[in-house]
Amino acid sequence: MISGSGRGIKTPVIVLNEKAYVESVGKKGVGLAQICEEVAAQHNVSIAICPQQVELAKIASQVQIPCFAQHVDPVEPGSQTGFVTLESVKEAGAVGSLVNHSEHRLKIADIDFIVSRAASLNLLTIVCTNNIAVSKAIAELKPYAIAVEPPELIGTGRAVSKVDPAIVEDTVKEVKRIAKHCVVLCGAGVTNGEDVRAAIELGADGVLLASGVVKAKDQRAALVDLVSGLE
Ligand code: G3P
Repeated sequence: MISGSGRGIKTPVIVLNEKAYVESVGKKGVGLAQICEEVAAQHNVSIAICPQQVELAKIASQVQIPCFAQHVDPVEPGSQTGFVTLESVKEAGAVGSLVNHSEHRLKIADIDFIVSRAASLNLLTIVCTNNIAVSKAIAELKPYAIAVEPPELIGTGRAVSKVDPAIVEDTVKEVKRIAKHCVVLCGAGVTNGEDVRAAIELGADGVLLASGVVKAKDQRAALVDLVSGLE
């Protein structure tokens, strides 16, 4: 398994998925990435971002914090049209990719292909899961990280670490039993420092979030509040 530390990621980590929000397109996406970079440096915390696919290469060339693709397709380079390969995200400057986000699900065989090909390319995979059973199955594939996110809490502002602490605690326990070094994140509804602190207290290595920062009126203030949960 590849370690995050070699790729500039230490735990605990905040991973910001910028999704396809209008607030993360073009110049706004670059601005948001720069805010993340500044807050990470000022507070000495680890923040990674997942820019929109089209913005990935540009943003990765403009900030020093780790960038992940939001998705990759389970295909080899070659005669493929409209797909995103691991090789292309690596060339774009990403350190890895989200995989199997609940808004972009994949079959388990495809996840297996991506996790093992990514490892051979020295890319990190953060595989999203929806429950403990799926987390256990994915742990067998030995990705860099698993991010458990109950889909019904996504975008609600009701944090998984507060609303469903058991799924966080049990996912950590079960995943680490299978893959001791696998980073375990939790996400869905995470909005403030208290949510982050609760996640860390439950044993998570960090959080994966989106709307709490991307859609915030003051993105910098939202991020500073979030990182207070790590301090
Ligand atoms: O990838 C993060 C995610 O699905 C959670 O979204 O908006 O609830 O933080 P959000």
